[in-house]
Amino acid sequence: MRRLARLLVAALPLLPAAAGADEARVATGRALFVANCQECHGPTGEGGAGGDIRGMKQPEVARATRGFEQMPAFDLGEADLAAIVAYLAAN
Ligand code: HEC
Repeated sequence: MRRLARLLVAALPLLPAAAGADEARVATGRALFVANCQECHGPTGEGGAGGDIRGMKQPEVARATRGFEQMPAFDLGEADLAAIVAYLAAN
């Protein structure tokens, strides 16, 4: 029991670090989105010339950013896509 308590205490500092990583990813996604996507999908992905894409998952975002209907193609790596998906999920 005491050993378990010590393990829990040891794990505590990891929790804020994990939250920080998520926040950093969302912040990166926001920057990418504002620079590349906002003009057609609005500042949070709520829609405009392009549709409402809030909450869209990685497969749809990856497919769309290769060029979709009137949407231009973007050269985005996996990490950039994941960041944009995290931003869309946070809105
Ligand atoms: C020049 C305008 C324009 C820009 C810039 C743009 N899009 Fe789009 N996007 C569109 C249009 C038009 C559609 C298709 C019509 C619709 O969804 O209403 C679309 C559709 C989508 C879809 C939905 C695909 C589906 O399966 O329905 C996603 C996801 C998407 N865009 C993501 C992005 C992301 C991420 C970016 C930035 C990297 C971006 N778009 C930039 C115009 C744009």
